[in-house]
Amino acid sequence: MRIAFGADHAGFELKELLARYAAELGHEVLDLGTSSTVSVDYPDFGFAVGRAVASGRAERGVVVCGTGIGISIAANRVPGARAGVATDLFSAQLMREHNDANILGLGARATAAPLAMAILETFLQTPFAGGRHQRRVDKLDAPPPRAEGDPR
Ligand code: RB5
Repeated sequence: MRIAFGADHAGFELKELLARYAAELGHEVLDLGTSSTVSVDYPDFGFAVGRAVASGRAERGVVVCGTGIGISIAANRVPGARAGVATDLFSAQLMREHNDANILGLGARATAAPLAMAILETFLQTPFAGGRHQRRVDKLDAPPPRAEGDPR
């Protein structure tokens, strides 16, 4: 599949490694930067990956910063992007099965490269379970405009 990659300076090296790994696994890589360890702002790259996935330019996305959190928050500001941060294989599996996450967030300062590679593989291989989860994911993509939709 076609995978968009984005990272800030903290995530640059892990992003490069993961993009190479994805290519080795037979995927097409769309590298949206950054392209060095020079300091940049993670929202710019999170937005870019979010837009690439939401528009269909890429089927999945991978975003990497120091923790994976800031760049995932940015990606999630794009309607249609569903980014989740994983620091373990269980989270990577469940973000696909339950949340139909289309963007994986990783923290280069939190997760060692071998685990990040395994998390990426799990994220790419695990299908969405559908069923009751579909209704919930549909709600993510159509949030209620007013507080009347709140459970309490
Ligand atoms: C950059 O120092 C760091 O703040 C960034 O990579 C990320 O961890 C933010 O969430």
